[in-house]
Amino acid sequence: MAPGAGTPRLSLESNTPITDHFIDMSETLKISDLHVAVEGKPILRGVNLAINRGEVHALMGPNGSGKSTLGNAIMGHPNYEVTDGSITLNGEDVLAMDASERARAGIFMAFQRPMAIPGVKMAEFLRHATTNVRNPRRREGEELIPMRQFRKELTEKMDQLRMDVDFARRYVNDGFSGGEMKRAEILQMAMLRPKFAILDETDSGLDVDAVKLASQSIAEIGGSEMGILIITHHDKLLDYNTPDFTHVMLGGRIVETGGVELARELYTEGYDRIRAAYPEAAALDAEMQQATAAV
Ligand SMILES: Nc1ncnc2c1ncn2[C@@H]1O[C@H](COP(=O)(O)OP(=O)(O)OP(=O)(O)O)[C@@H](O)[C@H]1O
Ligand SMILES: [Mg+2]
Repeated sequence: MAPGAGTPRLSLESNTPITDHFIDMSETLKISDLHVAVEGKPILRGVNLAINRGEVHALMGPNGSGKSTLGNAIMGHPNYEVTDGSITLNGEDVLAMDASERARAGIFMAFQRPMAIPGVKMAEFLRHATTNVRNPRRREGEELIPMRQFRKELTEKMDQLRMDVDFARRYVNDGFSGGEMKRAEILQMAMLRPKFAILDETDSGLDVDAVKLASQSIAEIGGSEMGILIITHHDKLLDYNTPDFTHVMLGGRIVETGGVELARELYTEGYDRIRAAYPEAAALDAEMQQATAAV
């Protein structure tokens, strides 16, 4: 930014925000000893994780172990109460930001179960969200990315994702098939180009060809410039996004971290070895499952 300039010079005209000219690859999203409760019930019990920009991390773990809870807590979902620990982005306190500030700071999450917004068209939604992320100081009612420029960018990205242009005229997630919803999440990521992206089961509900396309697209969009946390039960999404680290969550904690081979092992062998190796976490996990079953 030029000295004395009151606001960051963010280009709404060009395809490339000016900030992209100096991508700081040393940027880090850091989660330390994170404890999270939902409706007073402890779910996460001391999660530690540091993601640098340019890295791919896979997060696996049995159903109900706390993976989505971690994503929701990072995004600032109001139902997820952080009871201890910290989340920082380049040393800045993320917990002090509300969800929209976190998005503007460059954190993005593709939801496991995206919500429908009947009455709001995809294109409208994306134009607003993209403008806000590119110009974090924008207030509601202020200028949006020019329509022509936005359309051009959107069409390019939809092309890349092999999505029909009609899609942009539909209401957000309203009546979308499972696969369409997931593709819409990837489109959002492509338009917003966050610094850090959490992809929560972006492969679920996708057919074999669609998973391959999703995996390729994530690699193309994220490439080396994002830090990506891929939450998955499978290994196909990782084909084009080889994780630098694979983490296993059990009982609300990351109990083991390895490389890509750990993801393959868990996918083919399941969690028996993990449960046997970490009996305390396994007991907490079993407790969480029972509590859920009792509801
Ligand atoms: N909003 C909520 N209300 C009540 N319980 C919740 C909520 N969110 C999470 N939980 C509980 O927290 C635990 C962890 O859930 P979470 O969704 O994080 O698991 P997960 O690891 O993502 O599982 P899956 O692989 O099935 O997606 C579960 O017992 C779940 O029921
Ligand atoms: Mg989940």
